[in-house]
Amino acid sequence: MVSPSLKLADIEKPVPNDDQLLVRVRAASVNPLDWHYVEGTPYVMRAMGVGLRRPKETQLGVDYAGTVEAVGKNVTQFKPGDEVFGGRDGAFAQYVCPRAAGSVTLKPANLTFEQAASVNIAGITALQAVRDKGNVQPGQKLLINGASGGVGTFAVQIAKTLGADVTGVCSTRNVDLVQSLGADHVIDYTKEDFTKGAERYDVIVDNVANHSLSEFKRVLTPKGKYVMVGGGGADEQGVFGKMPRTLQAKLLSKFGDQEMGWMLAHPNQKDMTTLADLMQSGKVKPVIDRTYKLSDLPEAIRYLEEGHARGKVVITVD
Ligand SMILES: NC(=O)c1ccc[n+]([C@@H]2O[C@H](COP(=O)([O-])OP(=O)(O)OC[C@H]3O[C@@H](n4cnc5c(N)ncnc54)[C@H](OP(=O)(O)O)[C@@H]3O)[C@@H](O)[C@H]2O)c1
Repeated sequence: MVSPSLKLADIEKPVPNDDQLLVRVRAASVNPLDWHYVEGTPYVMRAMGVGLRRPKETQLGVDYAGTVEAVGKNVTQFKPGDEVFGGRDGAFAQYVCPRAAGSVTLKPANLTFEQAASVNIAGITALQAVRDKGNVQPGQKLLINGASGGVGTFAVQIAKTLGADVTGVCSTRNVDLVQSLGADHVIDYTKEDFTKGAERYDVIVDNVANHSLSEFKRVLTPKGKYVMVGGGGADEQGVFGKMPRTLQAKLLSKFGDQEMGWMLAHPNQKDMTTLADLMQSGKVKPVIDRTYKLSDLPEAIRYLEEGHARGKVVITVD
């Protein structure tokens, strides 16, 4: 569970360099990445530079939305007063200095700061999992395992804009939510195990990793793709986390035409702009579960760590 030593502190207001913006943060959002980081799990993360005994980087958070207060002298794309959203380390703060060419774009006027702050990691992951790694085509059958969480709620909506036939997997209390996001079929995992069913899927996006790879393989079409996004709680990460499963997926892909593999999201400006356009047109709408104040951040991370958020958990910053 999240360290009780997590605390708010006063630090120097950051100063943007020539290529950066100074953004006054109005809202941020929490991702499983934040609790992985605080917990130092899987342990291999510690050896890979996160810090052996405690995190080296002491400022948490990535996703934010806010108002540009100042720009570096090389920045022409943004100006003071612009409302923006994006990703930058240390986003649980009053100010961040993102690179103007990085994962940041103008906030559509129809989105609140809270909605915009929920997008960066979950939205980009969903977009890249469905559109790029899954290469979902109109009419293809796509199953999203974990359709009601941060990534899943974006993935269902994005897949519908690409014309897929979408099946969302979630628990009983989230069936209505996933249906309302546009899923054509919803499977309640407390009542039905899709890996034992007769349906075959062209693409599976897996946010949960609660079945073996051979079970997923069984319900893929002969040329189907399995996209491993995440899964596992803090106490299930072990030393290597999902690394053994990733290697196993690579090995299984060598036999037959099915593709199985892990994906790592790469936040970038082009995809943030694509997401902004989808939200501006009303085709994708962020789903917010709970909103916490910055002072209640440990509580927000603890809640997300339980693994049953409905959409995104957002932090408001005064
Ligand atoms: N590879 C990458 O680049 C990348 C990027 C972002 C996130 N991730 C990973 O992807 C995973 C999902 O992230 P997230 O932000 O969506 O997390 P999240 O918001 O915490 O997702 C939790 C969701 O998982 C669902 N769930 C739990 N057990 C389930 C089960 N047995 N079957 C189906 N759904 C189940 C829950 O639904 P119920 O309440 O209905 O159970 C809940 O809605 C995490 O492991 C995260 O670390 C990876």
